[in-house]
Amino acid sequence: MSLEFAEKTRRIPVYPVAAGYDLGADVAMLASNEAVFGPLEPVVEAARHAVLGANRYPDPSYMQLRRALSERYGIPWERIALGSGSCDLLLSAGEALLEPGAELVYAWPSFSIYPHLAAASGARAIEVPLRADASLDLEAMLAEITVATRLVLVCNPNNPTGTALPLEQIEAFLERVPPHVCVILDEAYVEFSLTVGDPLASLPLLARFPNLVILRTFSKVYGLAGLRVGYGLCGSESFRVAVDQVRQPFYLTGAAQAAAVEAVKYQDEVERRVVATVAARTGVTEELRARGYWVAQSDANFLWVRVADDDQDGPVVAALKDRGVLVRAGSALGGPGFIRVTLGTEAENSRFLSALGDR
Ligand SMILES: Cc1ncc(COP(=O)(O)O)c(C=O)c1O
Repeated sequence: MSLEFAEKTRRIPVYPVAAGYDLGADVAMLASNEAVFGPLEPVVEAARHAVLGANRYPDPSYMQLRRALSERYGIPWERIALGSGSCDLLLSAGEALLEPGAELVYAWPSFSIYPHLAAASGARAIEVPLRADASLDLEAMLAEITVATRLVLVCNPNNPTGTALPLEQIEAFLERVPPHVCVILDEAYVEFSLTVGDPLASLPLLARFPNLVILRTFSKVYGLAGLRVGYGLCGSESFRVAVDQVRQPFYLTGAAQAAAVEAVKYQDEVERRVVATVAARTGVTEELRARGYWVAQSDANFLWVRVADDDQDGPVVAALKDRGVLVRAGSALGGPGFIRVTLGTEAENSRFLSALGDR
């Protein structure tokens, strides 16, 4: 007899995991928006040192990391939420804020974990279509906010399309959201954004909007996806307290904490990585457009490319895989007919371009 699971378990969509982790070395892994840059040597050393004390539980106050982030961003540690990746904070936010009868609003296509928040809580998800240029339609999102809304997710730059809106538009949007509605501004890729311009630029919004949480991660530009560290810079302390209430106390390993504390010191390296990524982004976008592909204007480390007029992205994804290039099918991300390709090394980007061919 099979196990009888809760109704919510049956509702939760299976996360579209990227394939290819078992394919060996000669594969261009361009499906998960990871960094091509590995952790710096002192970061590895900090993690190694922490592992030496692994007989102890990690510090459940996470004070060293909260202090490091507090110094970097000028936000008191009490308003810094942490998570095992920013996914953990998103899911915990859903658990803390949502329940049957409540609503959450987000754009679609957007980050593929967002629908899980509704399914897990029984809240109603309102998915607002993107505009024709694949950017967020903030006006349409505002129109969907009702008395039942508890949470709005704004992904800027947006995954999977890479498009970003200027902060003035985000600010004008926040001015019109009722103050009891939590807004998570998911800035996982903000460092790569020329539209936002500076990863510190959105922070002043926190002083104006206590209902705002700016969500960040060490998984992208910092190159620590495998260690799972995310953080939320909060407009008020209550968000941090609530997400800590709904989780186990030890959600970050000692190695993860130590690596993040060290990584945040190397902002020059972050800038170098951004410059390299922007150069690759410009080059690959121009090349694809010259070949006749429609490519969304990306502010991130990946591109959203239309590959099939009949919505059949599957054959293109399969053909790329046969040539050792893994990308994500748009149909798995809410955008049939598209692919999402992460920018890799120069060699990987060339391999992708020659494997894809002309439109
Ligand atoms: C928009 C966005 N937010 C959050 C995340 C979660 O990242 P992590 O859990 O690795 O911090 C991702 C990962 O791809 C993402 O694309």
